[in-house]
Amino acid sequence: MTILCKLNDGDIIWPPPIWLMRQAGRYLPEYNVVRNKAGSFLDLCYKPGYASEVTLQPIKRFDLDAAIIFADILLIIQNFGMDIRFEEMIGPVLEKPLINNPMLNDITEVEKSKLVNVGEAISLTRHKLSKEKSLIGFCGAPWTVMTYMINGRSKKNHSQCIKWMEDNPSLANDIIDVLIELSAAYLILQIRAGADVVKIFDSWAGVLNENQFSNWVVKPTNKIISKVKDVYPKTPIIGFPRGANNFYEKYVLETGLNIIAVDSEVDRDYVRNVLQKKVIVQGNISPSILLKGGEELKSDIKSNINKFRDQPFILGLGHGILKETPPQHVLDLVQFVRSLS
Ligand code: CP3
Repeated sequence: MTILCKLNDGDIIWPPPIWLMRQAGRYLPEYNVVRNKAGSFLDLCYKPGYASEVTLQPIKRFDLDAAIIFADILLIIQNFGMDIRFEEMIGPVLEKPLINNPMLNDITEVEKSKLVNVGEAISLTRHKLSKEKSLIGFCGAPWTVMTYMINGRSKKNHSQCIKWMEDNPSLANDIIDVLIELSAAYLILQIRAGADVVKIFDSWAGVLNENQFSNWVVKPTNKIISKVKDVYPKTPIIGFPRGANNFYEKYVLETGLNIIAVDSEVDRDYVRNVLQKKVIVQGNISPSILLKGGEELKSDIKSNINKFRDQPFILGLGHGILKETPPQHVLDLVQFVRSLS
């Protein structure tokens, strides 16, 4: 059994398992080599040999306890017949976002789409990864994926997306329903291929009010989780409603997840007293403190561990590793955590 599955079965594991969001990425020189060889970001995601290679890079370098398959939450947008590319300095760019072209095209089923390549990358990786290490599959949550479908780019101002959702309620609901079906099928495909844990990323959950949070975050996520659990009841599911603040509790209670990943802004006493009583917590070291490193990083790791160690927990970041982060800081983090008693 892999380490995260043991944790999910109730074992207290010491030192705590460690893995970091965006652990494979541009801060690693060896990632940039493969990224250049692959040509485009999408080729890197869709070529199983390359995707598997970069997935394993942080495990080789830092001996982390879990690998997360290299892919992106936005690949699924292509199943809507929408063209997407990733540009240097800009990020994802969609040719025809919903804001200019509000319609639901023919949908390509997961099994007939390029997402099967992600399944192949998972199988390849599982064979190369030692059996106690976990392999995490993932998808984006409907609301977060929709923000990109609506705007067509990474924009920090989400009021435009919210307005679009409210101006186009029937189309918005139809798209959410399709995303629920596709995302569940995609997670099931990844588990079948060898992922032993899956994660649902809702990076923009924090911009919604309670009613919107309930309709666009909690209910769709609950439906995805129920569909996955119907097929794979034992596979642990991690939810990450970044920025959800005091709605974290509602999310934990109403979605059916097993592990809650919390961002760096949440109060650690709230996490321990409210969330950790109900589910496993994946901790929230700040990516900017990891970037700084040194004593500040050590003291934050200590306070994180002291807060969460009485109950099963995973040591992790509140968001993804920043691309300027020196790889040495990640090594320092791993060695420091494993030196504690
Ligand atoms: O180790 C890993 O976690 C790698 C796998 C992974 C990537 N993206 C690779 C990636 C995962 C789990 C993601 C999730 C993802 N993608 C999220 C949710 C988590 C979060 O960060 O909030 C979101 C919102 C996206 C969408 C996305 N992908 C954006 C907005 C961008 C551009 C911004 C950026 O960081 O460059 C991407 C590109 C992307 N996805 C990169 C990587 C390594 C960088 C692109 C490159 O190498 O050229």
